[in-house]
Amino acid sequence: MTILKVLQYPDPFLREVADEVQASEINDALRKTINDMFETMYQESGGGLAATQVGIKKRFFIMDGSEKKDQRIVAINPEIIEEKGEIIDEEGCLSFPGVFAKVKRAEWVKMKALDENGEVFEMESDGYLGRCMQHELDHLNGITYFDHLSPLKRKMIEKKYKKVNQD
Ligand code: NI
Repeated sequence: MTILKVLQYPDPFLREVADEVQASEINDALRKTINDMFETMYQESGGGLAATQVGIKKRFFIMDGSEKKDQRIVAINPEIIEEKGEIIDEEGCLSFPGVFAKVKRAEWVKMKALDENGEVFEMESDGYLGRCMQHELDHLNGITYFDHLSPLKRKMIEKKYKKVNQD
């Protein structure tokens, strides 16, 4: 397996809107990339990682909300098909190391996607994974969690981010 480079804000690639994955692209090469992404995410202690973040302009992401990091979820061409409520909670992102901010999200979501074998599945969550689905799906549309913050809050976090990440 290979540890991939996770792009960091303000890398312009994080603004790219990813393309749909074609059925013919759900193959061993993609599954190898997915394994590399899991390896990368576990090494960085993340809970989710979108293809965009590793420089791939395709609509898929991975996540694992378990403590033991043994519950892999792969979502290809994901769509949120239902959502309810609103909830504010703290969020971080591997593309924004060292900073966290409270972000408003739907409280409950239902997602439809393909798994790594091309099978359709649905999943719903009102917890960590629900938040994760919304966050990762945003990445595939070129949106980061910074975009959900008020201008003032964003300025504050950006300042902190620069400070934390300067060499
Ligand atoms: Ni992220």
